[in-house]
Amino acid sequence: MKFFLDTANVDEIREASALGLVDGITTNPSLLAKEPAPDREILEEICALVEGPVSAEVVSTDSEGMVREGRDLAKIAPNIVVKCPLIVEGLKAVRILKQDGIRSNVTLCFSVPQAIFAAKAGAYIISPFVGRLDDIGVDGMSLIRDIQQVYRNYAFETEILVASIRNPLHVIEAARIGADIATIPAKVYKGLLKHPLTDSGLERFLEDYRNAQKVGAAV
Ligand code: E4P
Repeated sequence: MKFFLDTANVDEIREASALGLVDGITTNPSLLAKEPAPDREILEEICALVEGPVSAEVVSTDSEGMVREGRDLAKIAPNIVVKCPLIVEGLKAVRILKQDGIRSNVTLCFSVPQAIFAAKAGAYIISPFVGRLDDIGVDGMSLIRDIQQVYRNYAFETEILVASIRNPLHVIEAARIGADIATIPAKVYKGLLKHPLTDSGLERFLEDYRNAQKVGAAV
């Protein structure tokens, strides 16, 4: 299972990738808008920090504009993946970008038929948004289960990226289902490695070790 970070904050990416276990990055216009530097500079910096795919989203709503933007974004680095929205114009852009050898992440997926269209259009990644479905009282992880089953039925190669993750339970469930990728906000990512029993257990081991050393020295 690949872990992507869902952020455009270079400090968060630098800190998390120090462990060498960040497999990619997803950004979107809202995440980039939170950062003070120009979008292109940020994307260049992120692509230099992380070897895996870095998703950068187009903001045009017509396919010509998306293709123009996508081609330009792809010039930033070879690991750029162009994010296109799951609308008719977005899927047209995905097909054209694919002919150019540019990989696409189709974003804002909320249903199985949408995911099938994206795969048929040649998306490299599909991004179903689980948290936003949960927010409206629909079980987001059920959508992941359904897409996984349908993609397997037809051997679609599009990778399933679980997006809009809000908590560790989303990550655990994504792993149980066998989703290809989870894109995780930095705060949730940090929390995944921590467990209070690990911390207290380590403290106890070290204390016992120190006490034994003292006893040994006194004998
Ligand atoms: C990832 O590709 C999405 O842009 C992101 O996960 C959206 O998350 P949100 O619903 O928390 O904004």
